[in-house]
Amino acid sequence: MARDDLKASLSALRTEFEEALGRAQDAASLQSVRDRFLGRKAGAVTQLLKSLGSLAADARRDAGQSLNQVKDDLEARLEEARAKIETRGRQQRLDREHVDVSLPGRLPPQGRRHPLTAVREELEDIFVAMGYEVYDGPEVDDDYHCFEALNMPPDHPARDMQDTFYLAGTDGLLLRTHTSTSQIRYMLENPHPPDVRIICPGKAYRRDNDITHSPMFQQIEGLVVGEGIGVGDLKGTIEAFLHALFGEQCPVRFRPSFFPYTEPSVETDLGCVVCGGQGCRVCKGTGWLEILGSGVVHPAVFEAVNARLGKKVYDPDVVSGFAFGLGIDRVAMVRHGVDDIRLFYGGDLRFLEQFR
Ligand code: DAH
Repeated sequence: MARDDLKASLSALRTEFEEALGRAQDAASLQSVRDRFLGRKAGAVTQLLKSLGSLAADARRDAGQSLNQVKDDLEARLEEARAKIETRGRQQRLDREHVDVSLPGRLPPQGRRHPLTAVREELEDIFVAMGYEVYDGPEVDDDYHCFEALNMPPDHPARDMQDTFYLAGTDGLLLRTHTSTSQIRYMLENPHPPDVRIICPGKAYRRDNDITHSPMFQQIEGLVVGEGIGVGDLKGTIEAFLHALFGEQCPVRFRPSFFPYTEPSVETDLGCVVCGGQGCRVCKGTGWLEILGSGVVHPAVFEAVNARLGKKVYDPDVVSGFAFGLGIDRVAMVRHGVDDIRLFYGGDLRFLEQFR
């Protein structure tokens, strides 16, 4: 190959190379430019190097030098282009993933107390402020604590009002149908004469299921025992806590009722806070909401405790008391104007997130 031919070829090769390089916009096309010109087997420069064999020694050396020079130049140009493409890619990534430090932070979702827990704690606070102790009893209990000691012997018709879950395969264990069980448990565990002043919040279970009854519900039981405790104390206490809960102006009504473990027995109604006493769906048109059962502790209850203790600790001739039981769910429904108790147990966040 003549020297001039080589020069012309090299110059054409450079032009071609620059064109190809100008078109290569990413690493992959850059690689094919490299293959095309500097590839070890078929690269254009390699081909030219191979063709030098036909030249005389001197000419071959000169040509070889120029070719190697060209090769180095191309390498340098490729490297430049590679660096440019890389910088541009990094910049594009940065632009895309740009962090705006002035954006407000994202708060992780925050939990909150269940509305029934909030109402229960509010009730506990009111009673604790009045000097009550909070006592906890088991949810799985037996016939004795749930019925018998509360003056409901087997076959007593009052048992029928509480359709009960008995636990199969046990010796008469059941899910307590009311928190009144804890009256008995507390007195048995504290066999020293009064003063008793306790509340027992907790779950209770009955085979009930409609918009105002859930198979599992929550109650607060109260028990006060001492010398000379009577209906007046009961009325004053209940009025005080209902007013603390719903406001001084909220009307409270006492009605005679029946429970085997109290005599007299009193049911307490609250003027409907939803309609202000006009009559609505929540109060079933009566203007009143049944909120709790209560009464003066029946002497038979003290006798049952004494019989089990084997001594007359709670002597009905000396001490008397009052007891009450209210539904926490019921209070929460009234409080928040919720007309289906099952919403509290459904776990639907759209419902629960409305309570702060
Ligand atoms: N145990 C009753 C119920 O679940 C409520 C009740 C009524 C509790 C009278 C009492 C009481 O302590 O004296 O419906």
